Amino acid sequence: MKSIAIFASGSGSNAENLITHFRKTQIAKVSVVLSNNKEAFVLDRAKRLEVPSTTFSRNEFYHSETVLDVLEKYEIDYIVLAGFLWLIPPYLISAFPNRIVNIHPALLPKYGGKGMFGDNVHKAVVESGDKESGITIHYVNEQYDSGSTIFQAKCEIVSGETPESLAGKIHDLEYAHFPAVVEKLIRNL
Ligand code: GRF
Repeated sequence: MKSIAIFASGSGSNAENLITHFRKTQIAKVSVVLSNNKEAFVLDRAKRLEVPSTTFSRNEFYHSETVLDVLEKYEIDYIVLAGFLWLIPPYLISAFPNRIVNIHPALLPKYGGKGMFGDNVHKAVVESGDKESGITIHYVNEQYDSGSTIFQAKCEIVSGETPESLAGKIHDLEYAHFPAVVEKLIRNL
């Protein structure tokens, strides 16, 4: 049984979906949730689902071994970023080569990079007049949203689409695909 750590900064609906998905498998489990945000709703979800969680400061993340120690304690094999807003530092990428994946709520390489998260992305997509959007699951490297793509799925943008309605479609795609894609990656480890 492999051990997954989820990093999340906000609501954590994808984190919850991953936790419940892997509970039904024998292949892996979500062993710990880590957050940079003490107020993040993902921490309430983790508590309700009885998954250990921990938070860390910017200084601890970038200038200490706090996070590595947590990952070691839970014998983590794989890291999943699910709405995590900070850039992953080089020490973490070297410790988990090709074992950190992220989900982005647009079709990268469009609408990626610093500041492109959450509703900012959906607003930019709707304002662009694009006819489609989607999700990208990708490996994490040292820049925002630029590691190689593992999987994309698309949805149509209809006339009258709003950032809110698009966000709903994107979340549906995320819930439908993210756990299955992560499971496949872990099966191939
Ligand atoms: C998702 O749309 C994901 O693509 C992006 O952040 C959002 C997180 O949503 N990286 P939630 O916290 O899982 O509800």
